Amino acid sequence: MDKIVIHGGKRLRGTVRISGSKNAALPILIASLLTDDECVVDNVPDLADIDTTIGFISYIGKNVSRRGKKVVIQRNGKLKSSAPYELVRKMRASVLVMGALLARLGHVKVSLPGGCAIGARPIDIHLDGFKKLGSDIILQGGYAEVNTKELRGANIRLRFPSVGATENLLLASVLAKGKTVIENAAREPEISDLASVLVKMGADIRGGGTKTLTIHGVSRLRGFRHSVIPDRIEAATYLVAGAITKGDVCLTDVNPGHIKTIIEKLSRAGLRIKSGEDFVRATWVKNLKPVNIKTGIYPGFPTDVQAQWMALMALVKGGSKIEETVFENRFMHVSELQRLGANIRIEGNKVRIKGVGGLSGAPLMVSDLRAGAALVLAGLVAKGKTEILRVYHLDRGYEHLEKKLKKLGADITRLHC
Ligand code: UD1
Repeated sequence: MDKIVIHGGKRLRGTVRISGSKNAALPILIASLLTDDECVVDNVPDLADIDTTIGFISYIGKNVSRRGKKVVIQRNGKLKSSAPYELVRKMRASVLVMGALLARLGHVKVSLPGGCAIGARPIDIHLDGFKKLGSDIILQGGYAEVNTKELRGANIRLRFPSVGATENLLLASVLAKGKTVIENAAREPEISDLASVLVKMGADIRGGGTKTLTIHGVSRLRGFRHSVIPDRIEAATYLVAGAITKGDVCLTDVNPGHIKTIIEKLSRAGLRIKSGEDFVRATWVKNLKPVNIKTGIYPGFPTDVQAQWMALMALVKGGSKIEETVFENRFMHVSELQRLGANIRIEGNKVRIKGVGGLSGAPLMVSDLRAGAALVLAGLVAKGKTEILRVYHLDRGYEHLEKKLKKLGADITRLHC
């Protein structure tokens, strides 16, 4: 059980390289299940969720080797069609193997992932889509079993543009017979990255990055080589780290187009932002102003940056509001921020924040990945020592977190207890 210890008060300055996107890498690694050919994925971040995914696809029947940021996936005998609870409970995104295995084998049995700290997170939209593609679903003993004689193209309108459901249905429909139209699809950049990989594999997909995806099924897919897009959530987190510490942080290897909403909100708060093709520099030049946010589907304000924004606003003089519209229970970080001295009140799916002049360090407990990021950000400015427990949540999604923050000048250490 590691813990992170931060002594707050250092202004962050310097350059930080943004890693490959966790949420793009996961479905792309899983896409390798759609072919027997070799697949090479580059710019894969070194994260616990990636280790889990690699372990998972190895269990399913692939030979996976990894050198640095590059992962090579090769065929290794027959594919298994089931995924037990021990694997799925480690990472919800494991349910994405359903679409790929259903398309390849016509049968898949996967443990239902269950809820997590941020909400119930059912997979009904995924399962409804599989049904429309011509599958039977049996829910029993905590498992979802999906069978099909043949996947057939269909018109599928998602009741909500779920990221995971859009990815799962893309993975299934690329090998289905005929035409599939997914309406009200999610448009996150990670989905466009998956779609471009599938197209490299020989899939026929139109409308990537829009609300309507049209897929003409093909009978076989080939291997691919692909470099994963930069992690826009990690990028946003480091921009907020610069802002909260009144610093000057330059991100490299980033796609500024993917974080337009964040850049716009930070500029409105008063940060000076310069950006080019693959860099963004954010410089604190004056006291920031409060800025309200409402989370939403892409290109709206990402729910995965809501907690970090709250940490920032907790320190900005004046009142601000945050509304969470994507997950029903994503305020687990509020009570921990309050323990540092933040003035935040929860009202249903909204919070009201009254910025305070400063925070003071305390021992804190991480409840989920992005809540953890918010606590680290608050710790960077809190007076004295902040000790953060349950850091395994952070290891799921932030590559070399302490190393990167240290390089920017933070006083941060990981202790192995
Ligand atoms: C993905 C991201 C996660 C991000 C989220 C929203 C990955 C691995 N994770 O999660 O970091 O916070 O998108 O941008 O990419 N829902 C249903 N039924 C379903 C599916 C979803 O009700 O079948 C609900 C969820 O409970 C949630 C909302 O839809 O309230 C959004 O979920 P979804 O877009 O599916 O998120 P994930 O794919 O799980």
